[in-house]
Amino acid sequence: MKLHNEIVVFIIGNGPSGICLSYLLSGYTPYLSPDASHPNPLLHSKLREQPHLSLLEQDLEYLCEGLEGRSSNPVAVLFDSLLLPDSDFGLEHASPLAWRYEPERATPHLVLGKGPPGGAWHAMEGSMLTLSLANWMELPGLKLKDWMREKRRNVRNDRATPAEIASYYQHYVSQMSLGQSFASRTTVTSHVLPSSPPDGSSVSEEVPFSLLAHSVVLATGTHDIPARLGVEGESLPFVCHSFWELENAISRGELDQSSDPVLVVGAGLTAADAVLAAHHLNTPVYHAFRRSVTDPGLIFNQLPKLLYPEYHKVHQMMTQQQHRPSPAPQDQAGDLLHPSTPPSPTSSPSSSPTSSSSSSSYPGYLSFPRHRVVAFRPDRKCVLESDSGQRTVVQVSMALVLIGAHPNLSFLPENGRPLGVNPDEPISCRRNPIEVDPFTCGVVSADGPGMYAMGPLVGENFVRFLKGGALAIAYISGKKTKKKERRKSNL
Ligand SMILES: *[C@@H]1O[C@H](CO)[C@@H](O)[C@H](O)[C@H]1NC(C)=O
Repeated sequence: MKLHNEIVVFIIGNGPSGICLSYLLSGYTPYLSPDASHPNPLLHSKLREQPHLSLLEQDLEYLCEGLEGRSSNPVAVLFDSLLLPDSDFGLEHASPLAWRYEPERATPHLVLGKGPPGGAWHAMEGSMLTLSLANWMELPGLKLKDWMREKRRNVRNDRATPAEIASYYQHYVSQMSLGQSFASRTTVTSHVLPSSPPDGSSVSEEVPFSLLAHSVVLATGTHDIPARLGVEGESLPFVCHSFWELENAISRGELDQSSDPVLVVGAGLTAADAVLAAHHLNTPVYHAFRRSVTDPGLIFNQLPKLLYPEYHKVHQMMTQQQHRPSPAPQDQAGDLLHPSTPPSPTSSPSSSPTSSSSSSSYPGYLSFPRHRVVAFRPDRKCVLESDSGQRTVVQVSMALVLIGAHPNLSFLPENGRPLGVNPDEPISCRRNPIEVDPFTCGVVSADGPGMYAMGPLVGENFVRFLKGGALAIAYISGKKTKKKERRKSNL
């Protein structure tokens, strides 16, 4: 790895956020193509006003005005609408942007990441289909579909596996010749200071180095540290916090139809994947989650059924095969929490997934909506409690707690907590993102200028929309460089 003396921007995280920003900072510049049109007539006429200027030189706020889309960030909606016009309606309108490589605009930058470019996509298990349509995952200038068509003959649908996406991102970095700005297998160890100029220090393959940059961009994912329930017994060996631990148990042959049920805790997509994987082996499943099955906040109530039939199936299972508590064992179950009373299984017949199988369409599955886990016991019993306080004890072979994750921001003071919308909580994509200015991505609570954040850290989980953050940061960084040039030429 070659180190520049004057790195201007220091990007922490080499997933799609970091890659997209690196592309823009390397001098790839979006213009309106001469004979392009945009389906939005207002945006079209605004773009036509100064077609000789690149997007990075126009007034982004003006272009964003009046646009609406599925991200709350206006620049994200603008950039998405320019890269994939009308894609919300399933239409394939060609992008009106033409990308020119203008190396004289490049800003020296360094992208740091723990693994190879592509970030967390490399760590995801290969079987899971990704949430988004394939073209929503693509980065500017290289059609994911074309690349996929080259790789496999039958593109059966518009969705790609995480392994394909990871490989696409890696290919993108080499295809666009961005490699010299990437320091992979690098860990940021200390003090990225929210002061000006920010300073970062890093360890690369055990060779420590430190850098001084004018700007630092926080562009990591948010899946480093699995969230925990914080309940008794959560560190017992049968309690796991990641999907791959289920995959490992499956590949070791530890689960089959005669196993005790697997308890899946959580109602997100990873939890759904775990339910499907266990169900596929005919292993009985208990599925506990806090929300009700009709809660609009539940991801399954937001996904189009046709596009995600397997997740629709999980939602159907959750709805149709709910645990029906019988009043009798309640006191007994409550007693179990007394340390002096030895725990014993007290599930009513209806909470045994095998006994209800004869009449159900999904044999072996039982959901516990609006339940929380109270404790895990060393003898693999789990105590669940409903919203109304009724307790059920279930015997399991393993428990999978899949309730989200947090980023590892150990290189920031207090793990970055003071930068969050709620400074008392750990940073997370959905519940507590880092607060940024929507047009610059500048971190609102940073002590000085020069600290930016983008992607899942600011609540933008979809690759489709995190590109907007890259555009905003490249835009600001281009303005700063211009100012400096003007100052130089005045001398
Ligand atoms: C966070 O990252 C640092 C640096 O890579 C590492 O030493 C630490 O163990 C990580 N923390 C957690 C909780 O994973």
